[in-house]
Amino acid sequence: MEAHEYAIAPADSPWLESLPVHPLLTAEFDADPGAVYDWLRRTYGPVAPVGLMGVPVWLVLDYAEVLQVLRNECQWRRDVRYWRARAEGRLPHGWPLLAGYEVRQTMFMDDEEHLAARSTLHSALRPFQEERSPQGWELRAAVARYADELVGVLAAESGTAGFADLGAQYTRPLLLMVTTRLFGCPVELGEELVMDLWRMVDGGPDAGPATGRALAAMTRLAAHRRARPGDDLTSYLLLADAGLSDEQLGRELFMNAVCLNDITGNMVLNTLLEVLRGNASVRRSLSAGQLGETVNRAALVNPPVANMCFRFAARDVRLGNFWVRAGEVVSPSAAAAHQDLLAIGSSAMVGSTVSTRAHLGWGAGAHGCPSSARELGEMIVATAVGRVFDHFTKAELAIPEDQLPWRSGPVVRGLKLLPVRYELSGPPPSVPRPWAAGEPVADGRARGVLSALRRFMFGGKKDA
Ligand code: HEM
Repeated sequence: MEAHEYAIAPADSPWLESLPVHPLLTAEFDADPGAVYDWLRRTYGPVAPVGLMGVPVWLVLDYAEVLQVLRNECQWRRDVRYWRARAEGRLPHGWPLLAGYEVRQTMFMDDEEHLAARSTLHSALRPFQEERSPQGWELRAAVARYADELVGVLAAESGTAGFADLGAQYTRPLLLMVTTRLFGCPVELGEELVMDLWRMVDGGPDAGPATGRALAAMTRLAAHRRARPGDDLTSYLLLADAGLSDEQLGRELFMNAVCLNDITGNMVLNTLLEVLRGNASVRRSLSAGQLGETVNRAALVNPPVANMCFRFAARDVRLGNFWVRAGEVVSPSAAAAHQDLLAIGSSAMVGSTVSTRAHLGWGAGAHGCPSSARELGEMIVATAVGRVFDHFTKAELAIPEDQLPWRSGPVVRGLKLLPVRYELSGPPPSVPRPWAAGEPVADGRARGVLSALRRFMFGGKKDA
Protein backbone atom coordinates (compact mmCIF):
# COMPACT_ATOMS: atom_id res chain seq x y z
CA MET A 1 0.00 0.00 0.00
CA GLU A 2 1.26 3.49 -0.82
CA ALA A 3 2.38 5.37 2.27
CA HIS A 4 1.30 9.02 2.51
CA GLU A 5 3.27 11.58 4.32
CA TYR A 6 1.14 14.34 5.64
CA ALA A 7 2.40 17.66 6.88
CA ILE A 8 2.13 18.46 10.55
CA ALA A 9 1.54 22.00 11.75
CA PRO A 10 4.72 23.57 13.17
CA ALA A 11 4.56 23.60 16.95
CA ASP A 12 4.63 27.40 17.11
CA SER A 13 1.68 27.92 14.72
CA PRO A 14 -1.38 29.11 16.65
CA TRP A 15 -4.37 26.91 17.40
CA LEU A 16 -7.69 28.39 16.34
CA GLU A 17 -8.89 28.48 19.93
CA SER A 18 -5.81 30.43 21.05
CA LEU A 19 -6.47 33.30 18.63
CA PRO A 20 -8.52 36.40 19.48
CA VAL A 21 -11.62 36.24 17.27
CA HIS A 22 -14.09 38.86 16.07
CA PRO A 23 -17.74 37.89 16.32
CA LEU A 24 -19.06 37.58 12.77
CA LEU A 25 -22.76 38.18 13.39
CA THR A 26 -22.79 41.85 14.32
CA ALA A 27 -25.03 44.77 13.36
CA GLU A 28 -22.33 45.82 10.93
CA PHE A 29 -22.40 42.39 9.28
CA ASP A 30 -26.18 42.63 9.06
CA ALA A 31 -25.97 45.98 7.30
CA ASP A 32 -22.99 45.32 5.03
CA PRO A 33 -21.40 41.86 5.08
CA GLY A 34 -19.13 42.82 2.17
CA ALA A 35 -17.40 45.46 4.30
CA VAL A 36 -16.81 42.88 7.06
CA TYR A 37 -15.35 40.33 4.60
CA ASP A 38 -13.13 43.09 3.21
CA TRP A 39 -11.85 44.01 6.65
CA LEU A 40 -11.20 40.38 7.60
CA ARG A 41 -9.32 39.83 4.32
CA ARG A 42 -7.18 42.93 4.85
CA THR A 43 -6.45 41.91 8.44
CA TYR A 44 -5.82 38.17 8.08
CA GLY A 45 -5.58 37.29 4.37
CA PRO A 46 -7.67 34.60 2.61
CA VAL A 47 -8.68 32.80 5.83
CA ALA A 48 -9.74 34.52 9.05
CA PRO A 49 -10.59 33.36 12.58
CA VAL A 50 -14.10 34.54 13.52
CA GLY A 51 -16.48 33.87 16.38
CA LEU A 52 -19.88 32.28 15.70
CA MET A 53 -22.05 32.67 18.77
CA GLY A 54 -19.04 32.21 21.01
CA VAL A 55 -17.34 29.42 19.06
CA PRO A 56 -14.20 30.08 16.98
CA VAL A 57 -14.38 29.07 13.31
CA TRP A 58 -12.06 29.61 10.35
CA LEU A 59 -13.91 31.66 7.73
CA VAL A 60 -12.52 30.99 4.25
CA LEU A 61 -12.76 34.19 2.21
CA ASP A 62 -10.87 33.92 -1.06
CA TYR A 63 -12.15 32.13 -4.15
CA ALA A 64 -9.10 29.87 -4.63
CA GLU A 65 -9.08 28.74 -0.99
CA VAL A 66 -12.86 28.21 -0.94
CA LEU A 67 -12.58 25.97 -4.02
CA GLN A 68 -9.65 24.16 -2.45
CA VAL A 69 -11.83 23.30 0.55
CA LEU A 70 -14.93 22.38 -1.44
CA ARG A 71 -13.03 20.12 -3.82
CA ASN A 72 -10.94 18.08 -1.41
CA GLU A 73 -13.33 15.86 0.47
CA CYS A 74 -10.54 13.63 1.84
CA GLN A 75 -9.06 16.59 3.68
CA TRP A 76 -12.32 18.39 4.53
CA ARG A 77 -14.89 16.12 6.17
CA ARG A 78 -18.59 16.76 6.70
CA ASP A 79 -19.30 14.33 9.50
CA VAL A 80 -19.66 16.38 12.67
CA ARG A 81 -17.86 13.61 14.60
CA TYR A 82 -14.59 14.93 13.14
CA TRP A 83 -15.02 18.16 15.10
CA ARG A 84 -12.53 18.00 17.93
CA ALA A 85 -14.11 20.71 20.12
CA ARG A 86 -17.43 18.82 20.00
CA ALA A 87 -15.84 15.44 20.63
CA GLU A 88 -13.99 16.82 23.64
CA GLY A 89 -17.14 18.48 25.01
CA ARG A 90 -15.73 21.99 24.68
CA LEU A 91 -18.69 23.58 22.85
CA PRO A 92 -20.84 25.86 25.03
CA HIS A 93 -23.77 24.00 26.55
CA GLY A 94 -26.80 24.21 24.23
CA TRP A 95 -24.80 25.96 21.51
CA PRO A 96 -27.66 26.77 19.11
CA LEU A 97 -25.99 25.87 15.82
CA LEU A 98 -25.26 22.34 16.91
CA ALA A 99 -28.91 21.23 16.66
CA GLY A 100 -28.80 21.37 12.84
CA TYR A 101 -25.37 19.76 12.55
CA GLU A 102 -26.49 16.82 14.68
CA VAL A 103 -29.20 15.91 12.13
CA ARG A 104 -27.43 13.15 10.27
CA GLN A 105 -28.45 13.32 6.59
CA THR A 106 -26.78 13.46 3.15
CA MET A 107 -25.18 16.84 3.70
CA PHE A 108 -23.28 15.70 6.79
CA MET A 109 -22.12 12.29 5.58
CA ASP A 110 -18.85 11.23 3.96
CA ASP A 111 -17.61 8.65 1.48
CA GLU A 112 -19.77 5.65 0.45
CA GLU A 113 -22.60 6.49 2.82
CA HIS A 114 -22.74 9.97 1.31
CA LEU A 115 -22.62 8.71 -2.28
CA ALA A 116 -25.41 6.23 -1.62
CA ALA A 117 -27.63 8.91 -0.05
CA ARG A 118 -27.02 11.29 -2.96
CA SER A 119 -27.84 8.58 -5.43
CA THR A 120 -31.12 7.84 -3.61
CA LEU A 121 -32.14 11.49 -3.81
CA HIS A 122 -31.13 11.63 -7.45
CA SER A 123 -33.28 8.60 -8.38
CA ALA A 124 -36.22 9.96 -6.40
CA LEU A 125 -36.04 13.38 -8.06
CA ARG A 126 -35.57 12.02 -11.58
CA PRO A 127 -39.28 11.70 -12.46
CA PHE A 128 -39.80 15.37 -11.56
CA GLN A 129 -36.83 16.49 -13.63
CA GLU A 130 -38.10 15.38 -16.98
CA GLU A 131 -40.28 17.96 -18.61
CA ARG A 132 -42.10 15.30 -20.58
CA SER A 133 -42.76 12.83 -17.78
CA PRO A 134 -46.21 13.25 -16.21
CA GLN A 135 -44.64 14.11 -12.82
CA GLY A 136 -42.25 16.65 -14.34
CA TRP A 137 -44.92 18.25 -16.44
CA GLU A 138 -47.45 18.41 -13.63
CA LEU A 139 -44.95 19.91 -11.18
CA ARG A 140 -43.95 22.62 -13.66
CA ALA A 141 -47.60 23.39 -14.37
CA ALA A 142 -48.36 23.47 -10.64
CA VAL A 143 -45.54 25.91 -9.84
CA ALA A 144 -46.77 28.28 -12.56
CA ARG A 145 -50.39 27.89 -11.44
CA TYR A 146 -49.58 28.54 -7.77
CA ALA A 147 -47.61 31.64 -8.79
CA ASP A 148 -50.56 32.89 -10.86
CA GLU A 149 -52.99 32.17 -8.05
CA LEU A 150 -50.89 34.13 -5.60
CA VAL A 151 -50.78 37.11 -7.96
CA GLY A 152 -54.55 36.73 -8.41
CA VAL A 153 -55.04 36.76 -4.64
CA LEU A 154 -52.86 39.85 -4.35
CA ALA A 155 -54.97 41.59 -6.94
CA ALA A 156 -58.19 40.45 -5.23
CA GLU A 157 -56.94 41.92 -1.94
CA SER A 158 -55.09 45.05 -3.06
CA GLY A 159 -56.38 45.80 -6.55
CA THR A 160 -54.66 45.84 -9.91
CA ALA A 161 -52.24 48.45 -8.61
CA GLY A 162 -50.99 48.69 -5.05
CA PHE A 163 -48.43 47.48 -2.56
CA ALA A 164 -47.32 43.94 -1.87
CA ASP A 165 -44.66 42.12 0.06
CA LEU A 166 -43.21 39.65 -2.40
CA GLY A 167 -41.69 37.74 0.54
CA ALA A 168 -44.70 37.02 2.74
CA GLN A 169 -47.39 37.26 0.04
CA TYR A 170 -45.70 35.51 -2.82
CA THR A 171 -42.37 33.70 -2.36
CA ARG A 172 -42.84 31.98 1.00
CA PRO A 173 -46.38 30.68 0.34
CA LEU A 174 -45.33 29.62 -3.15
CA LEU A 175 -42.45 27.51 -1.84
CA LEU A 176 -44.65 25.98 0.86
CA MET A 177 -47.25 25.05 -1.73
CA VAL A 178 -44.57 23.47 -3.90
CA THR A 179 -43.11 21.55 -0.92
CA THR A 180 -46.57 20.36 0.16
CA ARG A 181 -47.15 19.00 -3.30
CA LEU A 182 -43.69 17.61 -4.01
CA PHE A 183 -43.40 15.87 -0.63
CA GLY A 184 -46.95 14.52 -0.81
CA CYS A 185 -48.05 16.11 2.47
CA PRO A 186 -51.62 15.15 3.38
CA VAL A 187 -52.15 18.58 4.97
CA GLU A 188 -50.67 21.81 3.73
CA LEU A 189 -47.45 22.93 5.33
CA GLY A 190 -47.71 26.24 7.10
CA GLU A 191 -45.47 29.15 7.90
CA GLU A 192 -44.64 27.61 11.31
CA LEU A 193 -42.46 25.14 9.43
CA VAL A 194 -40.56 27.94 7.67
CA MET A 195 -40.03 29.70 11.00
CA ASP A 196 -38.72 26.50 12.61
CA LEU A 197 -36.34 25.95 9.70
CA TRP A 198 -35.11 29.56 10.04
CA ARG A 199 -34.54 29.04 13.77
CA MET A 200 -32.44 25.96 13.06
CA VAL A 201 -30.41 27.51 10.20
CA ASP A 202 -29.81 30.78 12.06
CA GLY A 203 -29.13 29.17 15.42
CA GLY A 204 -31.95 31.06 17.10
CA PRO A 205 -32.49 30.71 20.87
CA ASP A 206 -35.16 28.09 20.23
CA ALA A 207 -33.08 26.17 17.63
CA GLY A 208 -33.13 22.81 19.47
CA PRO A 209 -36.93 22.53 19.97
CA ALA A 210 -37.57 24.05 16.51
CA THR A 211 -35.37 21.39 14.90
CA GLY A 212 -37.17 18.72 16.92
CA ARG A 213 -40.62 19.95 15.76
CA ALA A 214 -39.65 20.09 12.08
CA LEU A 215 -37.98 16.66 12.24
CA ALA A 216 -41.02 15.14 13.97
CA ALA A 217 -43.32 16.54 11.25
CA MET A 218 -41.12 15.09 8.51
CA THR A 219 -40.87 11.72 10.26
CA ARG A 220 -44.68 11.57 10.51
CA LEU A 221 -44.88 12.34 6.81
CA ALA A 222 -42.39 9.53 6.09
CA ALA A 223 -44.52 7.05 8.05
CA HIS A 224 -47.70 8.28 6.33
CA ARG A 225 -46.28 7.84 2.84
CA ARG A 226 -44.81 4.43 3.68
CA ALA A 227 -48.36 3.34 4.52
CA ARG A 228 -49.94 5.15 1.54
CA PRO A 229 -47.42 5.57 -1.28
CA GLY A 230 -48.19 8.26 -3.83
CA ASP A 231 -46.70 10.13 -6.76
CA ASP A 232 -44.39 12.23 -4.63
CA LEU A 233 -40.77 12.64 -3.58
CA THR A 234 -41.28 10.94 -0.20
CA SER A 235 -42.69 7.81 -1.83
CA TYR A 236 -39.99 7.84 -4.53
CA LEU A 237 -37.26 8.10 -1.88
CA LEU A 238 -38.68 4.95 -0.28
CA LEU A 239 -38.82 3.28 -3.66
CA ALA A 240 -35.18 4.20 -4.32
CA ASP A 241 -34.04 2.89 -0.92
CA ALA A 242 -36.51 0.58 0.76
CA GLY A 243 -34.11 0.25 3.72
CA LEU A 244 -34.70 3.85 4.86
CA SER A 245 -36.29 4.00 8.30
CA ASP A 246 -38.98 6.62 8.94
CA GLU A 247 -36.47 8.56 11.05
CA GLN A 248 -33.78 8.57 8.35
CA LEU A 249 -36.28 9.49 5.65
CA GLY A 250 -37.61 12.21 7.95
CA ARG A 251 -34.07 13.63 8.30
CA GLU A 252 -33.59 13.67 4.52
CA LEU A 253 -36.96 15.36 3.98
CA PHE A 254 -36.07 17.87 6.68
CA MET A 255 -32.89 19.01 4.91
CA ASN A 256 -34.63 19.05 1.52
CA ALA A 257 -37.35 21.21 3.11
CA VAL A 258 -34.65 23.68 4.17
CA CYS A 259 -33.24 23.74 0.63
CA LEU A 260 -36.65 24.13 -0.95
CA ASN A 261 -38.13 26.70 1.37
CA ASP A 262 -35.29 28.71 2.76
CA ILE A 263 -32.57 28.46 0.12
CA THR A 264 -34.77 28.39 -3.00
CA GLY A 265 -37.02 31.08 -1.51
CA ASN A 266 -34.03 33.32 -0.90
CA MET A 267 -32.81 32.73 -4.42
CA VAL A 268 -36.22 33.87 -5.73
CA LEU A 269 -36.13 37.01 -3.59
CA ASN A 270 -32.48 37.81 -4.30
CA THR A 271 -33.13 37.47 -8.03
CA LEU A 272 -36.27 39.63 -7.87
CA LEU A 273 -34.29 42.23 -5.95
CA GLU A 274 -31.49 42.37 -8.50
CA VAL A 275 -34.04 42.99 -11.25
CA LEU A 276 -35.89 45.60 -9.18
CA ARG A 277 -32.79 47.48 -8.13
CA GLY A 278 -31.96 47.83 -11.82
CA ASN A 279 -28.84 45.68 -12.05
CA ALA A 280 -28.32 46.24 -15.78
CA SER A 281 -26.83 42.87 -16.65
CA VAL A 282 -29.48 41.02 -14.65
CA ARG A 283 -32.24 42.97 -16.41
CA ARG A 284 -30.61 42.39 -19.79
CA SER A 285 -30.47 38.65 -19.28
CA LEU A 286 -34.10 38.67 -18.08
CA SER A 287 -35.34 40.61 -21.08
CA ALA A 288 -33.33 38.36 -23.40
CA GLY A 289 -35.39 35.51 -21.96
CA GLN A 290 -32.29 33.98 -20.35
CA LEU A 291 -33.80 33.27 -16.96
CA GLY A 292 -31.05 30.79 -16.08
CA GLU A 293 -28.47 33.50 -16.70
CA THR A 294 -30.52 35.98 -14.66
CA VAL A 295 -30.41 33.56 -11.74
CA ASN A 296 -26.64 33.02 -12.17
CA ARG A 297 -26.03 36.75 -12.09
CA ALA A 298 -28.15 37.24 -8.99
CA ALA A 299 -26.37 34.30 -7.30
CA LEU A 300 -23.05 35.93 -8.05
CA VAL A 301 -24.10 39.22 -6.45
CA ASN A 302 -25.90 37.66 -3.50
CA PRO A 303 -25.67 33.87 -3.03
CA PRO A 304 -28.46 32.64 -0.72
CA VAL A 305 -26.06 30.18 0.95
CA ALA A 306 -23.66 32.97 1.84
CA ASN A 307 -21.44 30.89 4.13
CA MET A 308 -21.47 27.19 3.49
CA CYS A 309 -21.83 24.51 6.11
CA PHE A 310 -18.89 23.48 8.25
CA ARG A 311 -16.09 21.25 7.11
CA PHE A 312 -13.66 19.63 9.56
CA ALA A 313 -9.96 19.17 8.82
CA ALA A 314 -9.02 15.48 8.68
CA ARG A 315 -5.34 16.42 9.07
CA ASP A 316 -3.25 19.50 9.72
CA VAL A 317 -3.16 21.65 6.59
CA ARG A 318 -1.91 25.05 5.55
CA LEU A 319 -4.72 27.32 4.38
CA GLY A 320 -4.20 31.01 3.63
CA ASN A 321 -1.78 32.41 6.18
CA PHE A 322 -2.58 29.84 8.86
CA TRP A 323 -2.24 26.20 9.74
CA VAL A 324 -5.61 24.58 10.31
CA ARG A 325 -5.19 21.66 12.76
CA ALA A 326 -6.89 18.29 12.44
CA GLY A 327 -10.38 18.52 13.90
CA GLU A 328 -10.72 22.30 13.51
CA VAL A 329 -13.71 23.76 11.75
CA VAL A 330 -13.92 25.93 8.62
CA SER A 331 -16.83 27.65 6.89
CA PRO A 332 -16.22 28.38 3.19
CA SER A 333 -17.85 31.69 2.33
CA ALA A 334 -19.43 31.85 -1.13
CA ALA A 335 -20.35 35.50 -0.58
CA ALA A 336 -16.77 36.53 0.27
CA ALA A 337 -15.37 34.36 -2.55
CA HIS A 338 -17.67 36.10 -5.04
CA GLN A 339 -16.44 39.47 -3.85
CA ASP A 340 -12.91 38.20 -4.51
CA LEU A 341 -13.92 36.76 -7.89
CA LEU A 342 -15.54 40.01 -8.99
CA ALA A 343 -12.41 41.90 -7.97
CA ILE A 344 -10.24 39.48 -10.00
CA GLY A 345 -12.57 39.48 -13.03
CA SER A 346 -13.26 43.22 -12.68
CA SER A 347 -16.18 44.65 -14.60
CA ALA A 348 -15.76 42.40 -17.67
CA MET A 349 -17.71 39.62 -16.01
CA VAL A 350 -20.49 41.62 -14.42
CA GLY A 351 -21.05 44.07 -17.20
CA SER A 352 -21.30 41.69 -20.13
CA THR A 353 -23.36 38.62 -20.82
CA VAL A 354 -20.35 36.29 -20.61
CA SER A 355 -20.96 33.25 -18.49
CA THR A 356 -21.21 33.80 -14.77
CA ARG A 357 -21.22 30.11 -14.04
CA ALA A 358 -18.05 30.41 -11.97
CA HIS A 359 -20.29 31.38 -9.06
CA LEU A 360 -20.48 29.13 -6.01
CA GLY A 361 -24.18 29.65 -5.41
CA TRP A 362 -24.67 25.89 -5.85
CA GLY A 363 -21.52 24.99 -3.95
CA ALA A 364 -18.93 22.80 -5.68
CA GLY A 365 -17.25 19.42 -5.37
CA ALA A 366 -18.68 16.24 -3.89
CA HIS A 367 -21.19 18.11 -1.68
CA GLY A 368 -22.34 20.65 -4.25
CA CYS A 369 -26.08 20.87 -4.86
CA PRO A 370 -27.00 17.60 -6.67
CA SER A 371 -27.75 18.23 -10.36
CA SER A 372 -31.35 17.00 -10.08
CA ALA A 373 -32.01 19.27 -7.08
CA ARG A 374 -30.34 22.15 -8.81
CA GLU A 375 -32.49 21.74 -11.92
CA LEU A 376 -35.56 21.69 -9.72
CA GLY A 377 -34.37 24.82 -7.89
CA GLU A 378 -33.62 26.59 -11.17
CA MET A 379 -37.03 25.71 -12.58
CA ILE A 380 -38.82 27.04 -9.49
CA VAL A 381 -36.77 30.26 -9.36
CA ALA A 382 -37.13 30.90 -13.09
CA THR A 383 -40.90 30.30 -12.97
CA ALA A 384 -41.43 32.35 -9.82
CA VAL A 385 -39.43 35.31 -11.11
CA GLY A 386 -40.74 35.02 -14.66
CA ARG A 387 -44.41 35.03 -13.56
CA VAL A 388 -43.93 38.21 -11.52
CA PHE A 389 -42.60 40.09 -14.50
CA ASP A 390 -45.17 38.53 -16.85
CA HIS A 391 -47.99 39.83 -14.67
CA PHE A 392 -46.62 43.18 -13.54
CA THR A 393 -46.20 45.98 -15.99
CA LYS A 394 -44.65 48.01 -13.23
CA ALA A 395 -42.89 46.82 -10.10
CA GLU A 396 -40.58 48.96 -8.03
CA LEU A 397 -39.15 48.83 -4.54
CA ALA A 398 -41.55 50.46 -2.09
CA ILE A 399 -38.82 51.40 0.39
CA PRO A 400 -35.26 52.64 -0.19
CA GLU A 401 -32.87 49.82 -0.88
CA ASP A 402 -30.74 50.54 2.17
CA GLN A 403 -33.77 50.04 4.42
CA LEU A 404 -34.58 46.53 3.21
CA PRO A 405 -34.57 44.15 6.20
CA TRP A 406 -32.04 41.34 5.75
CA ARG A 407 -31.67 38.12 7.61
CA SER A 408 -27.90 37.64 7.89
CA GLY A 409 -27.26 34.40 9.69
CA PRO A 410 -24.24 32.13 9.93
CA VAL A 411 -25.28 30.41 6.68
CA VAL A 412 -28.01 32.31 4.87
CA ARG A 413 -28.38 35.87 3.71
CA GLY A 414 -31.91 36.55 2.58
CA LEU A 415 -34.58 39.21 2.61
CA LYS A 416 -37.20 39.18 5.36
CA LEU A 417 -39.52 41.31 3.22
CA LEU A 418 -39.53 42.58 -0.33
CA PRO A 419 -42.09 45.41 -0.40
CA VAL A 420 -43.00 46.60 -3.89
CA ARG A 421 -45.36 49.01 -5.57
CA TYR A 422 -46.92 47.18 -8.50
CA GLU A 423 -49.27 47.56 -11.43
CA LEU A 424 -50.68 44.56 -13.21
CA SER A 425 -50.22 44.40 -16.96
CA GLY A 426 -53.67 43.03 -17.70
CA PRO A 427 -56.69 41.54 -16.01
CA PRO A 428 -55.64 39.76 -12.82
CA PRO A 429 -55.18 36.01 -13.06
CA SER A 430 -58.26 34.27 -11.80
CA VAL A 431 -58.20 32.94 -8.28
CA PRO A 432 -59.80 29.56 -7.64
CA ARG A 433 -63.54 30.04 -7.11
CA PRO A 434 -63.65 28.86 -3.52
CA TRP A 435 -61.08 31.53 -2.58
CA ALA A 436 -63.35 34.17 -4.04
CA ALA A 437 -66.54 32.69 -2.67
CA GLY A 438 -65.20 31.20 0.55
CA GLU A 439 -66.77 27.82 -0.31
CA PRO A 440 -65.27 24.49 0.62
CA VAL A 441 -63.87 22.47 -2.29
CA ALA A 442 -63.93 18.81 -3.06
CA ASP A 443 -60.28 18.65 -4.11
CA GLY A 444 -58.14 18.33 -0.98
CA ARG A 445 -55.11 19.74 -2.76
CA ALA A 446 -56.94 22.86 -3.87
CA ARG A 447 -58.34 23.35 -0.40
CA GLY A 448 -54.82 23.04 1.01
CA VAL A 449 -53.55 25.69 -1.35
CA LEU A 450 -56.39 28.00 -0.47
CA SER A 451 -56.07 27.69 3.26
CA ALA A 452 -52.32 28.25 2.94
CA LEU A 453 -53.08 31.40 0.99
CA ARG A 454 -55.57 32.61 3.57
CA ARG A 455 -53.15 32.00 6.41
CA PHE A 456 -50.48 34.05 4.70
CA MET A 457 -52.76 36.83 3.65
CA PHE A 458 -54.43 37.15 7.02
CA GLY A 459 -51.44 36.80 9.28
CA GLY A 460 -51.70 33.24 10.51
CA LYS A 461 -55.44 33.14 11.44
CA LYS A 462 -56.95 29.72 10.90
CA ASP A 463 -59.63 29.63 8.20
CA ALA A 464 -63.15 29.02 9.16
C1 HEM B 1 -32.03 27.89 -5.95
C2 HEM B 1 -32.05 26.90 -5.11
C3 HEM B 1 -30.85 26.22 -4.45
C4 HEM B 1 -29.62 26.70 -4.14
C5 HEM B 1 -29.06 28.09 -4.38
C6 HEM B 1 -28.89 25.60 -3.53
C7 HEM B 1 -27.60 25.69 -3.06
C8 HEM B 1 -26.92 24.64 -2.48
C9 HEM B 1 -25.57 24.74 -1.97
C10 HEM B 1 -24.69 25.98 -1.96
C11 HEM B 1 -25.22 23.52 -1.50
C12 HEM B 1 -23.88 23.11 -0.89
C13 HEM B 1 -23.83 23.46 0.59
C14 HEM B 1 -22.48 23.16 1.19
O1 HEM B 1 -21.60 22.63 0.52
O2 HEM B 1 -22.31 23.48 2.38
C15 HEM B 1 -26.36 22.64 -1.70
C16 HEM B 1 -26.40 21.32 -1.34
C17 HEM B 1 -27.53 20.56 -1.39
N1 HEM B 1 -28.75 20.90 -1.95
FE1 HEM B 1 -29.16 22.64 -2.87
N2 HEM B 1 -29.71 24.49 -3.48
C18 HEM B 1 -30.91 24.84 -4.04
C19 HEM B 1 -32.02 24.03 -4.20
C20 HEM B 1 -32.10 22.74 -3.73
C21 HEM B 1 -33.29 21.93 -3.78
C22 HEM B 1 -34.61 22.37 -4.40
C23 HEM B 1 -32.97 20.75 -3.18
C24 HEM B 1 -33.83 19.51 -2.95
C25 HEM B 1 -35.03 19.32 -3.36
C26 HEM B 1 -31.59 20.80 -2.78
C27 HEM B 1 -30.92 19.78 -2.15
C28 HEM B 1 -29.60 19.85 -1.77
C29 HEM B 1 -28.92 18.75 -1.09
C30 HEM B 1 -29.51 17.40 -0.70
C31 HEM B 1 -27.61 19.20 -0.85
C32 HEM B 1 -26.51 18.43 -0.12
C33 HEM B 1 -25.64 17.72 -1.13
C34 HEM B 1 -24.50 16.96 -0.48
O3 HEM B 1 -24.06 17.28 0.62
O4 HEM B 1 -24.03 16.02 -1.12
N3 HEM B 1 -31.11 22.03 -3.13
N4 HEM B 1 -27.38 23.35 -2.30
